[in-house]
Amino acid sequence: MKKRSAAKPLSENKHLLRWVDKMVELCQPADIHWVDGSQAESDALCAGMVKGGTFIKLNEKLWPGCYYARSDANDVARVEDRTFICSLSKEGAGPMNNWVNPFEMRKKLRSLFHGCMAGRTMYVLAYSMGPVGGPMSQIGVQLTDSPYVVVNMRIMARIGLPIFKEIDKGEKRVVPCMHTVGAPLAKGQADVPWPCNKEKYIVHFPETREIWSYGSGYGGNALLGKKCFALRIASNMARDEGWMAEHMLILGVEDPKGEKTYVAAAFPSACGKTNFAMLIPPAPFKKKGWKIWTVGDDIAWIKPDAAGRLRAINPEAGFFGVAPGTSNATNPNAMASLARNTIFTNVALTPEGGVWWEGMTETPPVECIDWQGKKWTPQIAKETGAKAAHPNSRFTAPASQCPTIDPDWEKPEGVPLSALIFGGRRATTMPLVYQAFNWSGGVYAGATMGSEMTAAAAGAVGKVRRDPMAMLPFCGYHMGDYFRHWIVMQRKLSETPRIFHVNWFRKDAAGKFLWPGFSENMRVLKWIVDRARGRALGRETPIGWVPRYEDLDWTGLDFPREKFEELQAFDRSSWRTEVMSHEELFLDLHDRLPKEMIYERELLICRM
Ligand code: OXD
Ligand code: MN
Repeated sequence: MKKRSAAKPLSENKHLLRWVDKMVELCQPADIHWVDGSQAESDALCAGMVKGGTFIKLNEKLWPGCYYARSDANDVARVEDRTFICSLSKEGAGPMNNWVNPFEMRKKLRSLFHGCMAGRTMYVLAYSMGPVGGPMSQIGVQLTDSPYVVVNMRIMARIGLPIFKEIDKGEKRVVPCMHTVGAPLAKGQADVPWPCNKEKYIVHFPETREIWSYGSGYGGNALLGKKCFALRIASNMARDEGWMAEHMLILGVEDPKGEKTYVAAAFPSACGKTNFAMLIPPAPFKKKGWKIWTVGDDIAWIKPDAAGRLRAINPEAGFFGVAPGTSNATNPNAMASLARNTIFTNVALTPEGGVWWEGMTETPPVECIDWQGKKWTPQIAKETGAKAAHPNSRFTAPASQCPTIDPDWEKPEGVPLSALIFGGRRATTMPLVYQAFNWSGGVYAGATMGSEMTAAAAGAVGKVRRDPMAMLPFCGYHMGDYFRHWIVMQRKLSETPRIFHVNWFRKDAAGKFLWPGFSENMRVLKWIVDRARGRALGRETPIGWVPRYEDLDWTGLDFPREKFEELQAFDRSSWRTEVMSHEELFLDLHDRLPKEMIYERELLICRM
């Protein structure tokens, strides 16, 4: 076992040094590496992973600076059933989180982490969520035995020397994050390309602001700045400090006068969040001068400024996007973002040393190696249904490479928000768009939002799963308290963003999507921005304000009035069922549900 003295620390902060020493003692790594965050360091780590078989360097001409990894087949996604919020009281975590007594959990973790890094290097990875030194930014230090995690975190967050400098100022609380793949190596034991453990624990201690992650090397389980810190721990910080940590994209809409309006939007997984964040307006809109600017595609930290206006930053520095379905047709900006300096995980490898996934091109490659390392051809796919890329395969790409990245995306004080949008995947009931009557009506719309489950998830296909504010897997405390926090936030504001609900996925009686989606969502976004700026009309319905046919700009799209009416239809009987299922959610949360939610529901019923 090497002690801290063997590797030169990059920080002088005595708390940090003491903690690292303690964790070295616990995890017993063979070596310690303080991550400086440089390109040379990253290149060396990547070269090491190529040598060890974790990475394949892609064809430099086709995919400059890009690497390819295949995970273990049992380590391909976030593990919600192994994710724990270990608050002091069970009630603090609420009925929608897994809870274990923190004392018991600490005992378990101590035994799991004992000697867990044997034969491996412990990386000391300091990172900032948000621009370095920014007033809304937060700092974490992740100790990890995964070089894959280090190079991914280098894209997803700001890491290395500048962060150690921030830590040395001693002004900001640092969130300690422990991570191991849980695969210690005995002396002389050969490593595998993707070490991990069958047993997995993704644990959060909200009161002490700690994260402990065991057994997985993948995505949200291992890149601890993302879901674990920026949502689960940050939602606790935000509640205590009067701000909001949300599972939201942020985008700016520039109108023909050059005026920019920023909106943030929450959608559950598989609802096109990254596509919406990088939307390209339809040709006639572009010609008129409309443009979308991307600030973030997954997480927003939102805080009232001195004037009482909500401002948002994207705490991340990269996109950890789902690859399948991403193409030059669906999202050319994502394709441009991932064209270089990107890490691909669990997509397919082409014979030219490139990558491919379902939906990337209309014609699949004649042959490739699938995400499990097996030969894949369109014929094999036809016969066996085998996917070339895992449905949750990912690209890790620098946000700075996005052609529509907003010039203010790294502004430390954030961008001002004029509207918030909630949305889900709903074949029925939910119109294309409506605006809540006011803030608490909007909170109700977000709190009760749902999305239909797809065949990919366990559960009845088409059944609506309530996913409040798209935070079901990410809220680090009791969901009822979280609703209350939303309600209370309004009191801190002099100007309240307008709140909208959208649904791109409504179907007709024959099961066909009524709305073309993608670029055409710009028409809805324009109405939203115009409403937020008080320059568009609408019609009052029992659920909120909706656009009339003539309120949307239809230039360049032949969309009949009758179809729009079908898309916007308010159907009393399906809303009856809808409201009853809101009640099921409320029953689960009843002891901490703010009364505003009950009143909003009653008002909705009365209007209906
Ligand atoms: C994500 C998710 O990876 O929400 O962003 O699961
Ligand atoms: Mn997400």
